[in-house]
Amino acid sequence: MTKEVQVVHPLVQHHLTTLRDQGTTPAAFRNLVQRLAVLLAYEATKDLEVVPADVQTPLTKMTGRRLCQRIGLVPILRAGLGMIDPLLNLMPTAEVWHLGLYRDEATAKPIEYYSKIPPSDPVDVALILDPMLATGGSATAAMTTLQKWGVPQIKLLSIIAAPEGIQAIEESTPEAQVFVCCVDERLNDDKFIVPGLGDAGDRIFNAL
Ligand code: PRP
Repeated sequence: MTKEVQVVHPLVQHHLTTLRDQGTTPAAFRNLVQRLAVLLAYEATKDLEVVPADVQTPLTKMTGRRLCQRIGLVPILRAGLGMIDPLLNLMPTAEVWHLGLYRDEATAKPIEYYSKIPPSDPVDVALILDPMLATGGSATAAMTTLQKWGVPQIKLLSIIAAPEGIQAIEESTPEAQVFVCCVDERLNDDKFIVPGLGDAGDRIFNAL
């Protein structure tokens, strides 16, 4: 059963408040998305597997630990692109598999327009990156695609979510893990998250 993890931390609260501010410029918005993505990633990667690894320090030999799984980062275009660089900085050997989904404005249903997901040889862990989880249509569509690929462990990293989106994942993909900075109050009649932060993709790419 899906139980979202809310990353409750003063740094998250501080940066998220500025992210929500309508006066925040696109340049600052991009930067804040990156900071929040790092804080989400810290929480979401706590159970990654490691194996012993010998290392020679300037003083002596010791046995450390290194990541040992194939990790896939799956940004949902467009807004998910804003979270890629900070995740790749943390996991430089991760693979990036892009998914293009947009929400039809009339129906709020996801439309897939690009998929780089290969037919076989799945990663061990997939981290879906999308700053917003609203109705959950895009995230659940991405999860279905990753399940068809055969990914055994799927995690979603979203900066803000609506309760409706969390519930949609719980119903469609209860085994997936969801990490968010905040679950907001609700969706409005246009299926926008309230209080929210507006349209993350538009604000990241200065396409308002
Ligand atoms: C936004 C957002 C998510 C989706 C969330 O993308 O980045 O992908 O909507 O809504 P949902 O949970 O109801 O599916 P949008 O469709 O606006 O595309 P964009 O990233 O290109 O702006």
